[in-house]
Amino acid sequence: MKRIDVIPMPNKITYLGGETKINPEKLAATVSDSLEQEEYVLTADKNGVQILGGSEKAVFYAKQTLLQLGEVCPCVKIEDKPAFAHRGFMLDTVRHIFSVEDTKKLIDAAASVKMNVMHWHLTDDQGFRIYSSRRPDAALKGSVRKSSDFGRLKESGEYGGYFTADEMKEIVDYCAERYITVIPEFDIPGHSSALLHAFPQLSCKGEEVEVKTSQGIYEDILCAGNDETLDVVFDILSDILEIFPSEYIHIGGDEAPKARWKECPHCQERMKKEGLKDEETLQGWFTNQVVEFLKTKGRKAVVWNESLKSGVVDGSVTVQMWMDKKKLSVDFANDGGRMINSDFFHYYCDYPYGMTPLIKTYNYNPVDKKIKDKSSVIGVEAPIWTEYINSFEHLCHMFFPRVTAVAETGWTYETNKNAADFQRRFMAYSDILKKIGIIPAPPEEWNPSLFDRLTKTVSFFTGVMKRNN
Ligand code: ACM
Ligand code: ZN
Repeated sequence: MKRIDVIPMPNKITYLGGETKINPEKLAATVSDSLEQEEYVLTADKNGVQILGGSEKAVFYAKQTLLQLGEVCPCVKIEDKPAFAHRGFMLDTVRHIFSVEDTKKLIDAAASVKMNVMHWHLTDDQGFRIYSSRRPDAALKGSVRKSSDFGRLKESGEYGGYFTADEMKEIVDYCAERYITVIPEFDIPGHSSALLHAFPQLSCKGEEVEVKTSQGIYEDILCAGNDETLDVVFDILSDILEIFPSEYIHIGGDEAPKARWKECPHCQERMKKEGLKDEETLQGWFTNQVVEFLKTKGRKAVVWNESLKSGVVDGSVTVQMWMDKKKLSVDFANDGGRMINSDFFHYYCDYPYGMTPLIKTYNYNPVDKKIKDKSSVIGVEAPIWTEYINSFEHLCHMFFPRVTAVAETGWTYETNKNAADFQRRFMAYSDILKKIGIIPAPPEEWNPSLFDRLTKTVSFFTGVMKRNN
């Protein structure tokens, strides 16, 4: 019997016998509050297609399923709802910029696999890509680097660009039409060289800071002892809030070295005045100032897991776990916090397939064994960092199919997942990607042999070492 090839795998499929031709003209969709917000029931049989959805969004999801059923499909009843509320992808448009048009293709692909969050990484050491009308210099000065030197990927000449408010709104609207929320990221207090280039007075030393041309973790971070730092941050956030209606705003917090804060009289003074025991607690204090600001505007923060190191960060934040040996994110979730899993070892889609084969991404269970209540893990997110990716074709090669594997984990209960079947279904799903303008990595590259994996891993790390020297 012909089976249905849908990604993500629907959670309950009943085959009713026989086949039917899908006629979009004979489609009846009803919204009912007897179902959950993202839950739908789709019946395709001789009488046509009937959709019952818990909301318009759920009806949209049913239609994504329908699109993948093809023109002729077995008669089925599909009862479906997601395993996780947050099903996201993250795009880094700092290290390399991706156009609004290409970003829309990623959004189309994400929508087709029922993802509902686009996390947009817009600020970092190598460029500030948000135009803020309150602080125009942030982008005007901070968006341009003198050259690019990312290991093997060296490009001479200036590289720059930023997104205007209209362009960012265009992305927000395009996403909204597909029931995707855009969570913008303004990464602070670390990864801020580009902002410091525009506002050198916000660095602890008050000296000129370059927009960085290579990958790294840099010691110049925003001075937490200078009141002007928060003035600038709040101004830029005010612009961000006007553009992005999302309940959550990502404020970064990863990889913030404390060397400058340790030496800075203003930071030390702040610590004394606020009774903060060390520089890590100062980061906690800084984060909480921003969280409080967002609260006054009715918004909340997402932070990378390093933000939990201080132990004082407000419990209203959502933590995005990427590398967390001490499992502070798990403790946070077990204390009633919300956690997103983006484990770098499984979900970073910029890593070569040799290091992160498709089945490794697919088979990863995002709920840590130590999590007491599964619902505290609100979901999964597949990031793609772009130091080594400077074309949309390469981006798609790295992202697909792994991002769709994360989408399936986000939607389909662990007990219904099957890696071999996913890979089979992906072949059918590739037609949809092709129509969108996305070419995934070919199957022979998805799961390299152990030998290939070892050699690729060694060559990747050799590249990393070259780039850090
Ligand atoms: C990260 O990869 N620094 C979040
Ligand atoms: Zn300082």
